[in-house]
Amino acid sequence: MPVLTDIAQLAVCPAEGAQGDLGLIAKAALVWESGAVLWVGSAAALPAAYAEWPRESAGGRLVMPGLIDCHTHLAFGGWRADEFEQKLLGRSYLEIARQGGGIASTVKATRAASEDELHSRARSSLDAMLRLGVTTVECKSGYGLNVEDELKQLRVYRRLAEEGPQRIVPTCLGAHIVPPECKENRKSYLRLLTDELIPQVADESLARFFDVFVEDTAFSREEARTILHVAATHGLRAKLHADQLTDTGGGVLAAELDAASADHLECINANSIRAMAKAGIVAVSLPLATLYLNQEPLPARALIDAGVPVAVATDFNPGSAPSYDLHLALWLACTRQRMTPAEALKGATAYAARALLRDDIGSLEPGNKADFVVVDAPSVNHWLYHFHPETVVRTVISGETAWKRARIP
Ligand code: NIG
Ligand code: FE
Repeated sequence: MPVLTDIAQLAVCPAEGAQGDLGLIAKAALVWESGAVLWVGSAAALPAAYAEWPRESAGGRLVMPGLIDCHTHLAFGGWRADEFEQKLLGRSYLEIARQGGGIASTVKATRAASEDELHSRARSSLDAMLRLGVTTVECKSGYGLNVEDELKQLRVYRRLAEEGPQRIVPTCLGAHIVPPECKENRKSYLRLLTDELIPQVADESLARFFDVFVEDTAFSREEARTILHVAATHGLRAKLHADQLTDTGGGVLAAELDAASADHLECINANSIRAMAKAGIVAVSLPLATLYLNQEPLPARALIDAGVPVAVATDFNPGSAPSYDLHLALWLACTRQRMTPAEALKGATAYAARALLRDDIGSLEPGNKADFVVVDAPSVNHWLYHFHPETVVRTVISGETAWKRARIP
């Protein structure tokens, strides 16, 4: 039952309110007990009841909710560094995909990897993410693309969730692409998804969401509807990789399917923006993928102006976003997507929680989980302006210190 004081600025990041509303408190104090936030406010207004409680100092730093990376492909086999070079030499992502590279090559490497190998690599990524202040991670399958290997990826996520310390939110992305062996018979793969994979994933409670990549080289809108209706009957809420490389009307589809979020959206049209605003669908922006694919960013300002909540995530994967650095993604959300630091932070806290249908994390409102980060910066603006590595000094999950910098600057 500690009291954290000497907080230069505390960002509550209320679940409700506008994109830029962080509920900032200067010279703040934070009280928690049994893993949950009890009280937050100005240190001068600390209730007498907590006056004698043990104190800890934030050292005059910034405190914010634990960051939520609401879109990753955390566990995969191999890397694709050669494709990185080829893209820089002018070959497109789609061209590489059509010639058997891209996602298909990671599918091959992931199928060849054992559950233990996938686990140990994902483990080390998660450990590094903890040092960046990331306390919750959404993790997609989608590199198995048969029943056995999709379940293998999802079991890795179950193991990681059981081990902690981070919260893991698993998503089945069985509809990432049609795997090479089913190219001549798409229908057989759709049947595998609807008749075998989805029921088994649901039976073993291995995922919370089902994600479909809607694109020329992946799945059509009609196929997405079929798959996601079956997923919904099994209790798996929809997510979409939408409008990433071409405009497929992904935002309208997300609204129609009551998706928890529509992600990417670099090519979204005005109609889709209106549909998402009306249905209250979260747009997940993935600025690292936009940058690696050398695209124009999604129209973040138009989305925000229309009232669409914009989350920010890494999309960590070996192809379009080979980095798990959420701090960097937030900085890019500012510099490339023209979001303010406050808007970006809300996108990796309260709105990221909304994209995962969680109302107990992402905000330091009383009653929520005491997941928070102490950052070596005087304010949110300063943190995303003076970009430098190793800004986090302490990461706390459910009130317990999950990581602390040994030598504090
Ligand atoms: O989110 N767009 C589809 N899927 C991933 C890329 C996966 C890969 O290239 O391996 C993405 O960008
Ligand atoms: Fe993705």
